[in-house]
Amino acid sequence: MFTRHWRLWVAGAATAALVLPLAWLWKASLLPDTFDLASMGYAEWGDGPVGALGAASGHHAHGIPVAELTGPDRPADVRETLTVRDEGDRITVNGTTPGPTLRVTQGDLVEVTLVNDDVEDGTTLHWHGVDVPNAADGVAGVTQDAVMPGEEYVYRFVAEDAGTFWYHSHQVSHEQVQRGLLGALVVTPEGGPAEEPDVDEVAVLHRYGAEGTLNGDAGVSVLDAAPADQVRLRVVNTDNGMASLWLPGTVFRVLAVDGTEVHEPSDLADVAVPVPAGGRVDLGLTVPAGGARVDFSGGPSLAIGGADAGATRSTRPDETLDLLTYGEPKPPPFDVDNPDRRFEYTIGKRPGFLDGRPGIWWTVNGGLYPDIPMYMVTEGDVAVFTISNESDDTHPMHLHGHHGLVLSRDGEPATGSPWWTDSLEVGVGEAYEVAVLADNPGIWMDHCHNLTHAAEGLVAHLMYDGIASSFHVGGHHHNEPE
Ligand code: C2O
Ligand code: CU
Repeated sequence: MFTRHWRLWVAGAATAALVLPLAWLWKASLLPDTFDLASMGYAEWGDGPVGALGAASGHHAHGIPVAELTGPDRPADVRETLTVRDEGDRITVNGTTPGPTLRVTQGDLVEVTLVNDDVEDGTTLHWHGVDVPNAADGVAGVTQDAVMPGEEYVYRFVAEDAGTFWYHSHQVSHEQVQRGLLGALVVTPEGGPAEEPDVDEVAVLHRYGAEGTLNGDAGVSVLDAAPADQVRLRVVNTDNGMASLWLPGTVFRVLAVDGTEVHEPSDLADVAVPVPAGGRVDLGLTVPAGGARVDFSGGPSLAIGGADAGATRSTRPDETLDLLTYGEPKPPPFDVDNPDRRFEYTIGKRPGFLDGRPGIWWTVNGGLYPDIPMYMVTEGDVAVFTISNESDDTHPMHLHGHHGLVLSRDGEPATGSPWWTDSLEVGVGEAYEVAVLADNPGIWMDHCHNLTHAAEGLVAHLMYDGIASSFHVGGHHHNEPE
């Protein structure tokens, strides 16, 4: 009798010992219905001085509101209206996907009116790779409220840097981007490029369902060009996974990466060029007598200047271009050797609860979203991030509003052209050191651009001391950035 009760008691206690902590973990993981992003997680000052506001309040409630961090007031140089529409499987922009390519000149004040025709969840436009003022960054719940059906929103920013960029939704982005709410943005240099190409074309890569496409077309596309023409091809990877491309039998160069010109790029042949999710690569080539061909991973190809469009696809070369050593070095524009702050961004994976859902989730520095660092900087700081991938999948990491300079990979210093990136593939087991100059105040996402991973919690933020939130995630605006 006594023994049986005792056994039951032990069993009960053991179950409770197991279940109660789990229940507590489950409960602790539940996200409130609406919350201020700036108060999430914990402030990480990266071995630098703790800001006055951060030290005082812990939760940065006071300061300049994000909504006030706008661009100059002057009249726009370029005005566009982009209307988004739900077309069943796809979401179109002005009737197509990819949406129209916007072409502007460096220095232009760009004013884009986003009109949401009928996208039920609401929408936004984020200018991927453009260092816009924070209020124009297009992140629902962080820099604006989602634009609901029938509503409009005006983005204003100066296109300060020339290069290849793109725009996409940052409301329920893992669905809306995949369904095609995206397009390219090309900023041509003020006063024209050093060498004007004869042909300047974008190649937007996107998978609709299982089908890989180039500017919306599967299979082989044709680009008109004459032999000896100089071609600049601006490749944009809008997918969740790494893309690559190669040019069978043609010599070419990589002119730019993520919108920044490569310094003294050398000729390449028989090498595959990687393009991380969200990333861009501009190729330069002189069209040979018989034309040239570009083959892309995922299926599409481009026949340039009379190349045989019916020819069979070539196989991917074994060698892959390494940007750590490509091009020629030149001194960085700020001191990267004595950073004001050092941040760890270590990605892992472990079982736990994410907003009450059990699963195996991504972690940042060991914690599950939202128990992750808020990287804190003061304007003018140089911050060096060490991004380490200790998980079992690759992560294309994207910081909004800034460009990072790659310093090293796995301890090996970068020796090529300065490698400026906003979309950096961090492979399994890799660790990159990236220097960032804090010159654009605001609250900025720093997340994985495999947008499925982002929706699974692989999202942190960079926040400037003295800045306050203007918006909330969730709530009656239904803001859901990922
Ligand atoms: Cu291309 Cu946070 O996004
Ligand atoms: Cu990822």
